[in-house]
Amino acid sequence: MRISITLLQYDHGIIRQVLDVVGCVVRTHQVPKHVSELKEAMVFLDQFMDRFHHAKEEMFLFPAAAEECPKVADLLERLKEEHVTARRLLRAALKAIEAGDVERMEQEARALVDHMTVHISEEENQVFPVVENALFLETDARLHAQYERFMVENFGKSYYEVSEEFANDLQDRLMGPGYFTGIC
Ligand SMILES: [Fe+2]
Ligand SMILES: [Fe+2]
Repeated sequence: MRISITLLQYDHGIIRQVLDVVGCVVRTHQVPKHVSELKEAMVFLDQFMDRFHHAKEEMFLFPAAAEECPKVADLLERLKEEHVTARRLLRAALKAIEAGDVERMEQEARALVDHMTVHISEEENQVFPVVENALFLETDARLHAQYERFMVENFGKSYYEVSEEFANDLQDRLMGPGYFTGIC
């Protein structure tokens, strides 16, 4: 086990929870009824997924992994490109929300959910297990300290608590407490 990987998997859990809610709203064609919640979800993903999680992968884990586990270097480059695509889809969804264009909102949100579902699976199944085996313990400890400093300086010490609370609250509001009693 490597704490630097476990923490990123934990982030994935929170990201997936919000993506599931967005996917539910889109699948059931309830976007017009939940535009403000969709906007909240996109603003959250812009911060938690793009500026926090993807930033940690790109600034800390990926460079260390490319050095200590060169066989995944090419894959890491592709994952970075996928972050760019995710950012583009996220911004496009926010733009559609600002413009009040429901059809575009649905399209962009669906594309983002699909794209990120594949991206997270690639990391979880193809990259993290390999990197976890190769990463030195000292590197793992250094990455952990870097993540922590990055979070405290840019997002605040209680960023995880705040983010979990948001994800749970959004899920409760749209899908009902305990899942599947709401719109999905
Ligand atoms: Fe990623
Ligand atoms: Fe990730």
